Amino acid sequence: MLEDIQQTARAFDSDLASANGAREIDEVRVRYFGRKAGLIPALFTRLKEVPKEQKREIGDALNKLRDRAEEALKEKTARLVTEKVEHPLDVTLPGRAPRLGHLHPTTLVRRELEEIFVEMGYSLDPGPEVETDWYNFEALNFTPDHPARDMQDTFFLDVDQLLLRTHTSNVQIRSMERFKPPLRVLSCGRVYRRDEITMRKSPVFHQAEGFLVDKGIHIGHLRATLEQFIKRLFGSDLAMRMRPSYFPFTEPSAEVDMSCVFCRGKGCNTCSFTGWMEILGSGMIHPQVLRNVGIDPDVWSGFAFGFGLDRAAMIKYDIPNIRTLFENDVRVLQQF
Ligand code: DAH
Repeated sequence: MLEDIQQTARAFDSDLASANGAREIDEVRVRYFGRKAGLIPALFTRLKEVPKEQKREIGDALNKLRDRAEEALKEKTARLVTEKVEHPLDVTLPGRAPRLGHLHPTTLVRRELEEIFVEMGYSLDPGPEVETDWYNFEALNFTPDHPARDMQDTFFLDVDQLLLRTHTSNVQIRSMERFKPPLRVLSCGRVYRRDEITMRKSPVFHQAEGFLVDKGIHIGHLRATLEQFIKRLFGSDLAMRMRPSYFPFTEPSAEVDMSCVFCRGKGCNTCSFTGWMEILGSGMIHPQVLRNVGIDPDVWSGFAFGFGLDRAAMIKYDIPNIRTLFENDVRVLQQF
């Protein structure tokens, strides 16, 4: 019997210790003191079976258990109440401010670029991402077996010989078909290529395409336009240079470098100590491209350029890995 009392005492202590909140404390109370099946009243009932000589000792032990258990229940309940009083609901506390959204770094660069070109009189035209071969390649002077097609490893769709555009140059054709020159258009959007994901490459990325068609346009206009926007986007102290290059839809074509933004042209690891960073492709619109959309190249001429928006965001905000731009980790985005 004494052993049963001690066991009940131990069980009570552990039950009460693990009881959280008023409901659970009350459950412990019922289990040990309940009129019908309470464990402590049940022990009292058994007192009459105890031999006379032991009654006193066992009775004392039982009384002790009951008093101690009652005390412990009372104390724990009281503690619950004071805890509530110490942390009451404070209706005067100001509400929690909603978290503000942030613009994505690529969006910031795109908007800045759009602002610069809208000021120069350009219209914005995003164009479609799902294209036909004609707009993405053929009209841009990529003949069916042109080797330059291989440089733009293409996602082909199963339906109607459609594809995902590999560059925003499709908008040149779409705009020139719909509107008569003179034309100034900037087109920003997603483009797709079958590339492995690396630090600098992603199968989906963003480009800006700009082009202008008017009378008497020459490469000096192209150079002045590019210089203007590069300086506004990256800093007025930066130099720019053009290197001869090749694209099927421009003639002549030029690759454009600007001074490395990290060393401002002095030479560092990022620019392989050349002081230059490659930033875009450009050129004078090929006469055949103009002919393809019914514009007479003897009357009109124009320039075009293509620019990587993700790469520009990486350079501008010093983001080493392009994946950062596609993971959309709030901890990263809220810095912008
Ligand atoms: N479409 C080219 C590409 O995706 C970029 C480009 C180069 C666009 C020269 C142009 C241009 O308009 O003139 O690699």
